[in-house]
Amino acid sequence: MAAVSSVFRQGLFKGRVAVVTGGGTGIGQAIALELMYLGCSVVIASRKVERLQAAAQDMRTRILNSQQGNSKQSASAPTLSVMKCNIREELEVSQMLGRTLEEFGRVDFLVNNAGGQFLSAASSISEKGWKAVIDTNLTGTFLCCREAYNQWMKDNGGSIVNIIADMYKGFPSMSHTGAARAGVDNLTKSLSIEWADTGTRVNALAPGSSIYSETAVANYGNVDIFSQVKNMQPTKRLGTVEEISAAVCFLLSPAAAFISGETLYVDGGGRLYQTMWQIPDHKKSKAYTWKDDVTDSAQPQSGSNPDS
Ligand code: ADE
Repeated sequence: MAAVSSVFRQGLFKGRVAVVTGGGTGIGQAIALELMYLGCSVVIASRKVERLQAAAQDMRTRILNSQQGNSKQSASAPTLSVMKCNIREELEVSQMLGRTLEEFGRVDFLVNNAGGQFLSAASSISEKGWKAVIDTNLTGTFLCCREAYNQWMKDNGGSIVNIIADMYKGFPSMSHTGAARAGVDNLTKSLSIEWADTGTRVNALAPGSSIYSETAVANYGNVDIFSQVKNMQPTKRLGTVEEISAAVCFLLSPAAAFISGETLYVDGGGRLYQTMWQIPDHKKSKAYTWKDDVTDSAQPQSGSNPDS
């Protein structure tokens, strides 16, 4: 089982408590593991609790194996707790944060990583599909922020990182999630200002589509996005989930104490370079010149206007 490590010093987050939604797989799991490695107790929350329990057992073993021989950490090993929560449901979110506080007595960090979307041309997205993606990615993130704030951070401060997506140039083929993530990007800025006077920092992190994880592969189904994406990167390689978790740990840490309302793109510069979306050759774009106005049939003809 692969070891866990970090570029940050061990014990950095000792005594801290984090909630990581969608923390059982992919990017969320890497974030939860690195936080634990650094001494943070972590609650991973998701809808499918059986899968989460199985993942949590593996995660605990990985942390134990990674810490063997490190006497400083083993005396106070951080706890990993699993909670069932559908982030679309207001009551479930409120209860999940309440249970975290009952169990751990504090919640210093919230990482809103849970989300979901599907590949589809915008013209084919049903209202139900659209609403499901907006509910999960935008409303679910809002509810988790609000509850973490109202139940703890309002009085104690804290740090929130909202994982969004690289929708810098729009998000053709996943317009629903592009719209939802752009909403979270803006929400992040609003909350960072509204909550600044409580010592709560709120940032967003946008992983590129080039971040490889088995969860992402499963999400794309039969479409092999990654072999196409790789060559379109300035790095000429895919990104790793560890490269996301390191950036999240940075944003949560005191090294980012003066950073709030910011969106950090972790994409190897990919957003500035090529796009996957190809526009077929067409002649549908009509140029406009003043010459066209003169010949336009809308041009008043002499004598046709009673006022002339
Ligand atoms: N992961 C994907 N969708 C989710 C949801 N609605 N709640 C929690 N985790 C999720």
